[in-house]
Amino acid sequence: MTIGIHRLSFHTPAYYLDLDTLAQARGADPAKFHVGLGQDRMAIPPPDQDIVTLAANAALPILDELGPDHIDWCLFATESGVDQSKAAALFCHGLLGLPASCRCAEIKEACYGGTAALRLAAAIVAASPASRVLVLASDIARYDLASPGEPTQGAGAVAMLVAADPDLLVLEPSPGVHCEDIMDFWRPNYRTEALAEGHYSTRMYLTTLAEAYKAHQAATGHTLATFAHLACHMPFTRIAWKALARLARADGIPEPPPDAAEALLAPATLYNRLTGNTYAACLYEGLASLLDHAPAPLDGKTIGCFSYGSGCMAEFYAATVVPGYAAHLYTPLHRHLLADRVPLTYRQYEDIFQYGIPTDGADHIFAPYRGGPFRLATLSAHKRRYERRDP
Ligand code: HMG
Repeated sequence: MTIGIHRLSFHTPAYYLDLDTLAQARGADPAKFHVGLGQDRMAIPPPDQDIVTLAANAALPILDELGPDHIDWCLFATESGVDQSKAAALFCHGLLGLPASCRCAEIKEACYGGTAALRLAAAIVAASPASRVLVLASDIARYDLASPGEPTQGAGAVAMLVAADPDLLVLEPSPGVHCEDIMDFWRPNYRTEALAEGHYSTRMYLTTLAEAYKAHQAATGHTLATFAHLACHMPFTRIAWKALARLARADGIPEPPPDAAEALLAPATLYNRLTGNTYAACLYEGLASLLDHAPAPLDGKTIGCFSYGSGCMAEFYAATVVPGYAAHLYTPLHRHLLADRVPLTYRQYEDIFQYGIPTDGADHIFAPYRGGPFRLATLSAHKRRYERRDP
């Protein structure tokens, strides 16, 4: 029996800010964003979308295709939760019509949360092979206006159905893990925007990548030559090129020439360039991008995956693409979602950024914006009420 990702669906808000617009507002050189960071647009959720609706909208194609049967866990990974007590998974349980026998819980470790949930899901399936686990990873990345992190903001969600003998990706044994207690990026409970020691966090991402890769290599003997492609956590896509240089150094080989590096990395970066950082969803958005865009069939190929969460947790693992995977992708949906988005002006972006929802229990009705079927409808007596809009 193999265990891994049976279905993978991605969702992002229907609005974005072009980074040329942001560069103009900040008096920055657009090349710093497009070339230096490798980002083109950042996804902006309107007030009636949050991590719950993004995740439920991501999961809907999977539920529509396969139904809720045998889903006995729903694990929700996020670092932008909407409640300190109730798991976001429970809101999705209701919206998606999951079985009453399905356990729901929320998981957090910065951007590593998606991988933590995936690992737990795999362990659940190993113990109980008929189980299917719905892993939702959903985040809204916010930094202070005009801070260095601002151009890396983003929003999006992935839904992964984890199962025995999966149709898409098999998780290979012996992931390499490295953990350290550091303060490189964090968000205290009283803040809605994250804080970061930006350059330190980038250094720690690369240092812990080398440690996790070393542990994976020691257990498997894998080298860069093992992998058809790499998919990395991408707070900004240019970091994947820095990661490759670090892996080459660990292998004791020269950095691959630009065209070889492009071939290894670029297919996994296409969605992230257009959404910005999606935190817990980031690596899996990258895998969706890779599966949707690989220039040659990936059947039987091995992908090197790197997950990083500030604080910090690093994991390097291998996943093998299942022959016939291409018949089980949601590529047209993903492409349509990204092609159909609406650009915002700088003023609209700042208005949405500053949009305040009542914190005193007052009634609030959310105006309907463009987006997926699920939306946040009202806030009343501190309770969020979601709805599914008519098609
Ligand atoms: P910065 O300090 O404003 O940028 O912010 P910079 O001066 O370092 O420039 C960035 C790159 O652009 C550099 O490239 C410049 O040379 C280049 P590098 O030298 O690094 O290769 N550049 C240009 N290129 C072309 N034309 C130009 C130009 N000007 C400059 N004109 C920073 C960068 C990443 C620090 C900032 O965006 C930040 O603080 N981001 C938030 C933190 C972050 O993303 N950290 C990444 C690692 S931690 C992580 O991944 C975890 C995270 O996802 C959270 C979680 O786990 O939950 C963040």
